[in-house]
Amino acid sequence: MTLRFGAEWLPSALLLLQVQGSLSLSGPHTVTGTVGGSLSVQCRYEEEYRNYIKFWCDYPCLPLRKKIVQTTFSEREVRSGRVSIRDYPANLTFTVTLDSLTEEDEGTYKCGILSPFSHDPMFQVTVSVFPGEPHTLPLYQLRGT
Ligand SMILES: *[C@@H]1O[C@H](CO)[C@@H](O)[C@H](O)[C@H]1NC(C)=O
Repeated sequence: MTLRFGAEWLPSALLLLQVQGSLSLSGPHTVTGTVGGSLSVQCRYEEEYRNYIKFWCDYPCLPLRKKIVQTTFSEREVRSGRVSIRDYPANLTFTVTLDSLTEEDEGTYKCGILSPFSHDPMFQVTVSVFPGEPHTLPLYQLRGT
């Protein structure tokens, strides 16, 4: 009787662990911007990761591939070209900002946390970049000769 109870309990406990694991890091599933503009992605993490290194990587983000940008233990804000990452341990979030957007920035990325003793928690984010608004003539030019 007890054995049977145990066997039924185990799978749901594993399921619960998986669900909790995926909640250790969350963010927006999609973010949009326009060519020439900038966009920000805010990812939120659990308290236990407060002092860990945070990163932004290109899908599929294989473990040994270089990250696009990542914080270090001494620097909470790091920039690499048009991309910057800034960790706010005070409110358990970090923000990745992409500046001077181009259409090539469109794609799938992940925000993540370097976790030396287990899998890195990661959250997948799809970035869409729309063509900029066509330039409209200022009113004074329209009124001119
Ligand atoms: C976290 O703090 C930073 C800096 O004060 C702020 O810019 C950001 O909006 C905050 N995020 C949340 C979710 O409160």
